[in-house]
Amino acid sequence: MVALTLALVAPLLQPIDTCSLSDLDLSKMTVGWGKVRVGRSIEDKPLTVGGKVYTAGIGTHAASRLRLRLDGKATSFRCLIGVDDETQGRGSIRVRVYLDGKVAFDSGTLKGGAPPAQVDLKLGGVKDFILVASGANDGIDYDHVDFIEPTFTFSGARPAALGEPDEKEVILTPPPPKSPRLNTAPVIGCTPGKPFLYRIPATGVRPMRFSAQGLPKGLILDASTGFLSGRTPAQKGTYRLRLSARNAKGLDQKSLSLKVGDTLALTPPMGWNSWYIHYGRVTDKAMRAAADAMVKSGMADFGYQYVNIDDCWPRTQREAPLRDESGTVLCNDKFPDMPALTSYIHSKGLLAGIYTSPGPWTCAGFTGAWQHERQDTETFARWGFDFLKYDWCSYENVATGTGIERLKKPYAQMGEILKGLDRDVVYNLCQYGMGDVWKWGAETRGNCWRTTGDLGNMSSWRDVAFANARLWPYAKPGHWNDPDYLLIGWIGDSSPLGRRKCTIPPAEQYSYMGMWCLMAAPLIFSGDMERLDPFTLSVLCNAEMISVDQDPLGRQAKVLRATDEEWVLQKPLADGSTAIGLFNFGEVERTVSATWKELGYLSGKKLRVRDLWRQKDIRTISTGLYATLKPGACLVVRVWE
Ligand code: GLA
Repeated sequence: MVALTLALVAPLLQPIDTCSLSDLDLSKMTVGWGKVRVGRSIEDKPLTVGGKVYTAGIGTHAASRLRLRLDGKATSFRCLIGVDDETQGRGSIRVRVYLDGKVAFDSGTLKGGAPPAQVDLKLGGVKDFILVASGANDGIDYDHVDFIEPTFTFSGARPAALGEPDEKEVILTPPPPKSPRLNTAPVIGCTPGKPFLYRIPATGVRPMRFSAQGLPKGLILDASTGFLSGRTPAQKGTYRLRLSARNAKGLDQKSLSLKVGDTLALTPPMGWNSWYIHYGRVTDKAMRAAADAMVKSGMADFGYQYVNIDDCWPRTQREAPLRDESGTVLCNDKFPDMPALTSYIHSKGLLAGIYTSPGPWTCAGFTGAWQHERQDTETFARWGFDFLKYDWCSYENVATGTGIERLKKPYAQMGEILKGLDRDVVYNLCQYGMGDVWKWGAETRGNCWRTTGDLGNMSSWRDVAFANARLWPYAKPGHWNDPDYLLIGWIGDSSPLGRRKCTIPPAEQYSYMGMWCLMAAPLIFSGDMERLDPFTLSVLCNAEMISVDQDPLGRQAKVLRATDEEWVLQKPLADGSTAIGLFNFGEVERTVSATWKELGYLSGKKLRVRDLWRQKDIRTISTGLYATLKPGACLVVRVWE
């Protein structure tokens, strides 16, 4: 009897304990930049918010997340939250606490310099606790988050920190059929009378025989490789080709319009760039290996075509002379023979890209094109390059003029130089979105313009995506918003291996790529071409998804909904269908939906709806589209009336 009574009252007798967030295993906390600090700010200074210094708490940087298992044992959580004063008034954050999947606290936007917000939550019975600090949807710079005196009360077991759920790599993209499938974009832009090279992208078993009807004079097709080469017609106009690919398993045919006019990149450029895997370590050998891998991995069969050297091929001041007696820019010793390198890339049917700056130095401190703009560009064309990334960087120190004209000047100058070359060179503006480049980039003849800072320096690809998505009205054929590279697979770092695996959860990688395709973004992978695993390839190489990106109508998806939890994008396509993406950017599984009315379809009409990642038609309900999605996951469909 006594024992029974004791057992019944035991829970009530459990003493109430307290613990601080800093007593828990903070190695489980994700952090957007730097490393979580106990009792100090993210920059290792005293925790200071709204002019007041605190001794207890933790300093982190958005985007930051900690998951805790409470198992109903905790009773309360109290804390002050703010942006650390070390940002000198900059930065803006938003902190949310999820209790068993529901938002129980939302700080709203907290700005640098403001006094801290107070959290005071009752936790009776709560099992799961998630603390999330994000940027306040205005970029992620200076988002130094302090949790001041974060205290739990509990009885029995103290809260346990959990790592991020370990998500399996589930491949969604089905393998391509063995029979031929032509993956060409429906349209290619070129200018009259220029050297031309195009490797017709097609999946299916080899050997494969290619043929083309309607080839204009000056172009020839190699039937076994599918390389179209020669010179573009001297006459402007649209040349309609009918391509065929045949192998032992069957035949595929597709139309291709060659638009000979003034505009290149009528669909967003696709390829690979060396920056985020090789940085300053890039070599001729690495570039050749990337070209080899683009073919061997099958990426080229899906339309990836540019093999682009980023920064670090010219010389630094220490390696002077920087130019020869005639002023021709000199490469560093990692690039012994540029024409041989581009010939190698071209021998695979692929195109080659190069990088420079309008300033005296590139961002990494190598020779830039300043006062040698024409000479360097002509050198690039002579070397055989087909793509130029033109990166503002040290131009900042030599720029003259004011306002937009100051920003536009070097880009307009380069646009004119490129126009006069005996070579079609796709032109990529890189100046991080200054002066709303999307409003005037096309006037400089830019084919694509970076809209934000470097994605690799951001705490999450989502920040870049959100910033770029809102610019949908500015994209059009030949002129694209460029949200930077596809940073998945193995990415370069300073570890002994020189690379690390991408940490974006697998399902979210499909959202990343899906979002890029809906945004008609250039599809430029910048991870390791020599370590392409099946999962990464399944994200990069889904023909139906890529055809949304490469759609000839050339419209960027309109943002229909953009809340903290869910995004809905819709991209009109040339055949009258639309591509729709539903994204869950919340912290917990949720059902994201959009009514047919919202999507511009009359309800009751019979629609064909196809899940593009899984490449299969799906059944939908009569009122609209819906999907139950894990955090970070998406559903991207194409809908035909
Ligand atoms: C800038 C660009 C990057 C990369 C580096 C090279 O940061 O935005 O994409 O080209 O320069 O130094």
